[in-house]
Amino acid sequence: MLILGIETSCDDASAAVVENGHKLLGMATASQIDAHRAYGGVVPEIAAREHVGSIIGVVDQALASAAIKLNNVDAIAVTSGPGLIGSLMIGVQTAKSLSLGLRIPIQPVHHVVGHVYANFITESKIKLSNTLPHGQPQFPMLALVVSGGHTQMMLFNSHLKFKIVGRTCDDAIGEAFDKTAKILNLPYPGGVSVSERAILGDKDAYKLPKPKTENILDTSFSGLKTALLREAQKTAGGDFTMPSFEIASHLNQKQVNDFCASFEDTALDYVVDKMRLAYIKFKPKSVVIGGGVAGSQRLRTKLSLSLGIDIEYAPAELCVDNGAMIAAAGYQAHKLKKPIDANEIRIEPNKKVFIGV
Ligand code: KG4
Ligand code: ZN
Repeated sequence: MLILGIETSCDDASAAVVENGHKLLGMATASQIDAHRAYGGVVPEIAAREHVGSIIGVVDQALASAAIKLNNVDAIAVTSGPGLIGSLMIGVQTAKSLSLGLRIPIQPVHHVVGHVYANFITESKIKLSNTLPHGQPQFPMLALVVSGGHTQMMLFNSHLKFKIVGRTCDDAIGEAFDKTAKILNLPYPGGVSVSERAILGDKDAYKLPKPKTENILDTSFSGLKTALLREAQKTAGGDFTMPSFEIASHLNQKQVNDFCASFEDTALDYVVDKMRLAYIKFKPKSVVIGGGVAGSQRLRTKLSLSLGIDIEYAPAELCVDNGAMIAAAGYQAHKLKKPIDANEIRIEPNKKVFIGV
């Protein structure tokens, strides 16, 4: 069965064709990094406008790279939420039009669940940056999603049946990386530049906290973010009133590198500690990770070492937002759920991951 997956929840428009939920046949993504760079973050209006211009081309390119004609697609899967309202609207309207025009089924997919399903792609006809996992993850499966908008641990007992066992009480880990980059005046996207500069720094230079949470498997990143801000203000010779845009000009390159290394090490250890606790508690057969921060090689090494197991991670391009993960999740939804009328699909910008779908 061939599923065309469409993802436009934030700043990437991506489409992919996946066969039987595990074989990637073709994918195309239009990145908007250049359009948002000057603003140091994603501007929702610009994101939506860019999607309008790129989505048809992206779908065409994905089909061409898969060597599949549109009328051979069996079903469409599309991210319906959570995400930016204008961005979601473009992908969902495109998917609805295709579904109605071609008279093929459509499945709405939760973006975070999509990130988890990137790990079910075990074959690819297109070249990826890393080798794919050798087999499908086994249940029970413990999943960590770490991205710009989400930080949560989910325990899956079978396909699409899961409960959330840990979540952030405030900010997402990727957001904290992006904020750190902004304070240190590093280029957008922040996570990547913090992680590049961290290689050059001393992770023990600054002591940053790992906030305690009521549920031991939850996380909190706003305290860590504020602690970094205060430490940076102090190092820059100011007090807590120093505006964050002034800090970087008073820091030397060694201090910037040390802040990156200290922040990255603390933030990654923090989520890895939570995963270790969850792993001991739930004894899953498989552990998977997804989301932009899951592309971090340091996170991957730390997690494997802490759990003491070999983990076959998904290639980085399947960890960031992409159409393939949506197609893979859509395939399972198509098998398990009743067909949905395209006219019934609504965008859900604040869509919660409901427990035990
Ligand atoms: O999953 P994603 O592409 O979009 C969302 O759904 O949010 O994740 C983007 C996030 C950004 O916050 C970015 O800074 C972060 O992932 N990121 C990283 C790395 N690469 C991307 N954070 C830490 N280390 C990285 N290597
Ligand atoms: Zn995402």
